[in-house]
Amino acid sequence: GRVAVLMGGAAAEREISLKSGKAVLQALLNRGVDAVGLDVGARPLAPLLGADFDRVFNIIHGRGGEDGVLQGALEALGLPYTGSGVLASALAMDKLRTKLCWIGAGLPTPRWMLLRSEADLTICAETLNFPVIVKPAEEGSSIGMSRAENSAELLEAWRRASQYNCAVFAETWVTGAEYTAAVLDGEPLPLIRLETPNTFYDFDAKYRAATTRYHCPCGLLPETESKLRELAVRACATVGVTGWGRVDLLVDGVGEPWLIEVNTVPGMTDHSLVPMAARTAGLDFDALVWRILETSFD
Ligand code: DAL
Ligand code: MG
Repeated sequence: GRVAVLMGGAAAEREISLKSGKAVLQALLNRGVDAVGLDVGARPLAPLLGADFDRVFNIIHGRGGEDGVLQGALEALGLPYTGSGVLASALAMDKLRTKLCWIGAGLPTPRWMLLRSEADLTICAETLNFPVIVKPAEEGSSIGMSRAENSAELLEAWRRASQYNCAVFAETWVTGAEYTAAVLDGEPLPLIRLETPNTFYDFDAKYRAATTRYHCPCGLLPETESKLRELAVRACATVGVTGWGRVDLLVDGVGEPWLIEVNTVPGMTDHSLVPMAARTAGLDFDALVWRILETSFD
């Protein structure tokens, strides 16, 4: 049947989604799938109504596409779609509630504090040790995030993160290595280690800098990597992620892992991580896209 590839959306990651979407569409066409790409802006349902699509490949990142809203609407329309359902999508979009969920399951995630007002910044400075990283709770691609080493920087970081119309929080800075773990249909793919001269793996390091280095295989001992992969699978299962997802994590100086977040519609651009991990596992881009499409069957 016909597949609608939904891309774009209206969130801050719109441009990334369009790149992901074009790549996904091309992969489906390469496989002979009758697929149509739809840049849907702020109204993702409009082009689906009255059209004869059989399923949706959802590659809209961020709010409105990755957060359960679209998933609920597609359920109501009776249209199968790729990736997680309503609950896991909504939960994973909210980094704070994701952390609560992991803590409830006994999984490790750095300490944090919600920053509701300027008064909270004082409490934060006393409660969490500097440095901290300040984040909007519902953005992706590191948009709005910055590191703060003192109260003045905390104020600046909080103001920057407050522009995104969602809660803002500070999280204890973990000194160590950044990894990401893709999970495809409940099975972990090889880990990737990210290396950047930037302060952290920020928007620039993700999409622009030529200095970012990706290590896949990641260089850990096999038993260490397999523990982290297992942790990533549990992190996904705890949040209820199905189909595919990507867990971002840090490993500190003594080798302890810390879960950061889970993405339920990870990037699929030529810089993106899930395709890189899949390639290491012997799955090329087209085959990966097909596998993700298959998660919408049943
Ligand atoms: N939020 C971006 C698209 C990612 O996780 O890859
Ligand atoms: Mg994210």
